Amino acid sequence: MAKYTIITMPGDGIGNQVLPESLRVLRAVGFDAEYMHADIGWDCWCAQGNALPDRTIELLTKHKLGLFGAITSKPNKAAQAELKPELQGKSYVYYSPIVTMRQKFNLDICLRPCVGFTGNPLNYIRKKVDGGYDEPRIDTTVFRQGTEGMYAGVEWTNPPEIVRTALNSHPRFKAFANVPGPEIAVSCRIITRNAAQRIVTAAFEYAKKRGFKGVTICEKPNVVRETSGMMEEVGIALWSTNIDAQLMWLNKNPEEYNVVVASNLFGDILSDAFAGLVGGLGFAASGNIGDDVAVFEPTHGSAPKYAELNPPIVNPIAMILSAAMMLDHVGEDQKASRIRKAIADVVREGKVRTYDMMRFTGGPKAISQGAASTVQMTDAILEKLK
Ligand code: NAI
Ligand code: MG
Repeated sequence: MAKYTIITMPGDGIGNQVLPESLRVLRAVGFDAEYMHADIGWDCWCAQGNALPDRTIELLTKHKLGLFGAITSKPNKAAQAELKPELQGKSYVYYSPIVTMRQKFNLDICLRPCVGFTGNPLNYIRKKVDGGYDEPRIDTTVFRQGTEGMYAGVEWTNPPEIVRTALNSHPRFKAFANVPGPEIAVSCRIITRNAAQRIVTAAFEYAKKRGFKGVTICEKPNVVRETSGMMEEVGIALWSTNIDAQLMWLNKNPEEYNVVVASNLFGDILSDAFAGLVGGLGFAASGNIGDDVAVFEPTHGSAPKYAELNPPIVNPIAMILSAAMMLDHVGEDQKASRIRKAIADVVREGKVRTYDMMRFTGGPKAISQGAASTVQMTDAILEKLK
């Protein structure tokens, strides 16, 4: 019997193209695992009115480790329209299965490393005062709270009377008191001290382990006093920046930020912004880690416009790096390092590059223009692992 059972959830679109590539790499480094497929995503929603089926939850509960590709999410109206006819009008509500998964298993530590690979033509460069350019080495990990905040899901358009009454009890709500129900939407940003403490602690522990000087907390406590205030309160002696200013700083001096911690929405924004400095979505990996269960995924979505291309053209590196994060998580550090080194070698050599790395417009022509396919990129990585 294998040491680990990994639940594989390719999901929708390019999730189905990149996830199998990560398994080829895991096998190549001799990870002692068996893999069990589980459904997730849009087809599940259309057929069952539930994008995260019970069987998938059961498998994750039992085996604790998941690899996830990507899902397609659509706004409520489109979601209703694509539901199979028997289910329409029966008050099924679409919830993003990855958000639901994070909440269900309390995968509250969302870890998003944004680390530049030498030789990546997409890396951030900066003009020097005396002419020329420099390419700072970026090694930032964003710790994003994964279960609460703006994504807690407590929201209404036309809030029920009881909520309206509660809101009216707040002096600042007077400004909205006369707005008719259907004209008002409310999303609650909920932060608990326990979850805030957990994400900040995780960030500190990581900084200590890596030998970084400190942690930057990125919130907006001067304006969002209660929830950002609580995030700040739990982390003593760390640097603090406001989310807006931080987005400016990361464009100026990204190399100065090694560990950044933020609530859910801010962390989501920050991690995409940092990812843009090290190659974009083709390089952005993530882990969703709870006490019991952990699920690893690229941060990109299902990229439907490329999902039908044959051969596939998207970059599998984000997914492969996510699989390496899973190895880190279970203590197989050496295997994880081998994978990262193989990727680094391929990127440094620069002979095999997917379309995004060549700054091509994606599409069927990318391959004839000289871009590597998804499979060829993995092949090149496997070659380095030999
Ligand atoms: P997306 O991440 O799917 O794609 C945006 C663009 O980024 C693509 O058109 C492509 O140009 C590029 N891209 C993404 N992954 C790439 C890769 N591996 N290699 C090279 N280029 C890549 O985001 P989009 O288009 O906003 O959303 C598409 C669908 O994905 C939506 O339904 C959205 O809700 C969903 N989504 C799901 C996520 C998840 O599963 N965690 C995260 C983000 C979006
Ligand atoms: Mg995102």
